[in-house]
Amino acid sequence: MSELSTLEGTLLGEIAAAGSEEALEAVRVAALGKKGSVSGLLATLGSMAPDERKSFGAAVNALKDRVTEALSERRVILKDQALDIRLASERADVTLPLRESGIEAGRIHPISQVMDELTAIFADLGFAIAEGPDVESDDLNFTKLNFPVGHPAREMHDTFFFEPDEKGERKLLRTHTSPVQVRTMLAKKPPIRVICPGRTYRCDSDQTHTPMFHQVEGLVIDKSANLGQLKWVLEEFCKAFFEVESVKMRFRPSFFPFTEPSMEVDIQCSRKGGEIRFGEGEDWLEILGCGMVHPNVLRNCGLDPDAVQGYAWGMGIDRIAMLKYGMPDLRPFFEADIRWLKHYGFRPLDLPNLASGLSA
Ligand code: DAH
Repeated sequence: MSELSTLEGTLLGEIAAAGSEEALEAVRVAALGKKGSVSGLLATLGSMAPDERKSFGAAVNALKDRVTEALSERRVILKDQALDIRLASERADVTLPLRESGIEAGRIHPISQVMDELTAIFADLGFAIAEGPDVESDDLNFTKLNFPVGHPAREMHDTFFFEPDEKGERKLLRTHTSPVQVRTMLAKKPPIRVICPGRTYRCDSDQTHTPMFHQVEGLVIDKSANLGQLKWVLEEFCKAFFEVESVKMRFRPSFFPFTEPSMEVDIQCSRKGGEIRFGEGEDWLEILGCGMVHPNVLRNCGLDPDAVQGYAWGMGIDRIAMLKYGMPDLRPFFEADIRWLKHYGFRPLDLPNLASGLSA
């Protein structure tokens, strides 16, 4: 019997010393497995005399029970310890700042932002959006807009022409968004109320000019469209866009082949301390061209100038973006420098709308 108590002492000692569930399992197999020490003892019962078998068998089985119980108690302790270790190693410090994900790091380009602002403002005034292609015909970019072939006004636009095609037609990159006016008038019946934002191209490059730039065109055609409405629309636009209570605008006589009369519009501003402010000051900044749609243009687009009339304007989007957001140079707009975009760009969910404020 002392042999049994020695074995029990050894096994219980090994169980208590097992430092992991794997080590404990090894102890169990060594004792209770097929070739284990306790199983070995049970296998010797068959060769014993009945009396001896009875008492020895009972003792071995009692030992087996105690070992089994010690094993399961130790297993619970080891499982708890393993869980504690895991919880400690996986602890999250909820006070740490969030790491910026790709979505938060991305920025909306100021041009896209300003396009969204324009759209929000003019949609509120009842305008729809019209679009046209960047590669345009000479007819739509010039002729239908009352720039007759050979007219010197064509030279005012430094046009990128394509090679002539088989029919001798020279396509071009549109020099302004005005051909979208023509496309709209050809496609739709008055009343028309559209804005046409988009890319435009001229062979020009310096601090405030790039070969590709953006314009937004406005066009209203109906029976009674007039200059008073044009002034009101532009004033409402400027107040909303520059986010000021009032603006002063100056309409100067000018010339565009497609409008008569034609005007250029300046907005009053102050440039004190190197910062531009609108709605105050003594300086004037030119921001757009406009006028009443020329009767020839209406005729060229299949409309009767005695039945309908219209007003239109065209504005440089890049220019008003520079003015509003204080960017001194236009060229970095198109250099795709991530540092510039991080500085001047907008957060993706800062969607401009008139209710919460455009740039809020
Ligand atoms: N298309 C002109 C330009 O690019 C801008 C312009 C002026 C558009 C007067 C208009 C307008 O619709 O009425 O210089």
